[in-house]
Formats: sequence, C-alpha cells, structure tokens
Amino acid sequence: MAGTDSYLLGRADAEVERLTRQIVTLGSDSEAQLDRIGIKHGEKVIDLGCGPGGVLHLLAERVGKRGHVLGIDRGRHFVELAQGFVKSRGLTQVEVCEGDAYDTGLPRASFDGGHMRLLLVNVPEPERAVRELVALVRPGGWVASFEADYLPCCCDPPLPALDRLMEAYAAYAHAQKIDLSVGRRIHRMFREAGVTDISVDAIVHVFPEDHERRWFQKRLIDNVRERMLEGGFITRDDLARDMAALEAHLARPDVQVMSNLFFRLTGRVGHAPVAARPH
Ligand SMILES: C[S@@+](CC[C@H](N)C(=O)[O-])C[C@H]1O[C@@H](n2cnc3c(N)ncnc32)[C@H](O)[C@@H]1O
Repeated sequence: MAGTDSYLLGRADAEVERLTRQIVTLGSDSEAQLDRIGIKHGEKVIDLGCGPGGVLHLLAERVGKRGHVLGIDRGRHFVELAQGFVKSRGLTQVEVCEGDAYDTGLPRASFDGGHMRLLLVNVPEPERAVRELVALVRPGGWVASFEADYLPCCCDPPLPALDRLMEAYAAYAHAQKIDLSVGRRIHRMFREAGVTDISVDAIVHVFPEDHERRWFQKRLIDNVRERMLEGGFITRDDLARDMAALEAHLARPDVQVMSNLFFRLTGRVGHAPVAARPH
C-alpha cells in the first residue's frame, strides 16, 4: 500500500470500538438510504472506507447470495475486523481487501454500484475518493454517499467547555487538511465527477438522556486526545477540565444533545466519460 496512513481518528482500540458501535447506531439511517436506490439481487457493488464493518451486511442483504460486495479500507486491522464481521454472519458474498480509496487499482466501470460512508470527512482530498468511486461504477450504475457536516453539533443548555473542545478538534482536523463541513458540498463533488439524477437529504438527531450516541463528541475527542495534545491544539489542564465538565453536562437529564448533520446522496453515473485515475 502506497503512502503513509494518517487516518484522522487513529486506529486505537477506542476507535475500533466507536466504529463497531456505529455499525448498529447508523444502521437504520443507512438502510433508509440504501432502500431508496433499488439495489437488485445479483449486483456487484463496492464500499470504500468500510471500516470494521460499516454497511457491508446491509449491502450483502440487498445483493443477495448471487451478488458480490467488495469492502475496501486502508487500515489493515480494520480489514481484518471487517473480514471477521462478515464471516461471523456467514456473508460469503462479501470480500474485504486492503486498499486506498484514492486509487484502488481496480478495473474502471466494473461495479453496478458504489457506496461510501463517513470516508470523506476523514480524508484531505475528498474529491479524489469521489472520482475514484464514480470511475469504478459502470455508466447507469448507482452511487451513494453518507457524509457528516459538523455545523449543528451542539448541546442545550450550551456548554462553553464543549465549544472550546470542538474548536480545538476543528483546529486539529484543519491541520490535517480535513473539511469538517464536507457534507454540504458532496452534491457538487459527485456532479463534477459525472453523476446525474442526484438526490440529497440531510438528517440530524436529538439524543435523549439514555441514548448511546449522546457521548459521541466526548468519544471523538477521547480518541484523538494525545494527538491534540502533541500538536498543541489544547493544553493537558484545559483538556482535563473541559472533558470533566462535558461528562458532567452529558449526564444531566435536562441537557439536549444534537448530532452532526448527515447528508445522504444518491445518484447515477452518467454516460459521458469521466476522468479515470486522477492524480
Ligand atoms: C469514520 S470511518 C467510517 C467506517 C465505515 N464506513 C462506517 O461508516 O462505519 C472512516 C474509514 O475510512 C478509512 N479510510 C481513511 N482513509 C482511507 C483511504 N485513503 N482509503 C481507504 N480507506 C480509508 C478508515 O480506515 C476508516 O475505516
């Protein structure tokens, strides 16, 4: 695998745990999106940046045993976990391989459909991953993208400690050339890559007192805390103080927590030629 691997959120156990939880917590939002596409039994589809499982089981269910799902991820450990995930479910139609979403090296126009979830908010050149996904899908085939935008991510009553933490996280992400507001512009990236019939919706969730995802901001920052400290985006004392304040705030039943905005795009690959393997 070429290049260095600097996944924004790291690949420590805590990130594995977060992504494993996400298989379930984002499952129904992804199912609603996939159901709108009309995926057929027997289709051959690809998922870029599949993580330790992502939506592989949802795609497998839709293409059936005669179809084929290929999951690609850059993290070897994530690939192994995803292989275990599909094996434990008996999903023999799913294959998971290590690869780079910017340049998979796979034959052009060789899939009936291509999907990615929360990949673009983690890579510095999202356009490259979009162009690669589109180039992998045959003309007339479908593409789907599920992407985050951090705009409304907040709680009420507001907490200055959370605002400071998110500011430090945004500075950390910015230094890695990550666009935390990428969700709102995916329609443009896919259109420029030659996708037509684009349809986009956006969802946001409010997490009640006992909701598992209420803690997502704390977990996100926990996972990159050492990197944020090393980069000087926050001091150890400020981090400890603000994280303690956040924990106490989230435990209060009268505090309302809102998710990020999630943009869900579906479209068709046009018949006009699109740029292959951009560099
Ligand atoms: C936030 S996770 C999302 C995982 C999964 N799609 C899901 O929704 O649960 C982002 C994933 O993208 C992978 N990733 C990051 N950069 C990549 C690249 N250049 N090529 C392939 N995968 C990449 C990471 O290893 C990680 O598994």
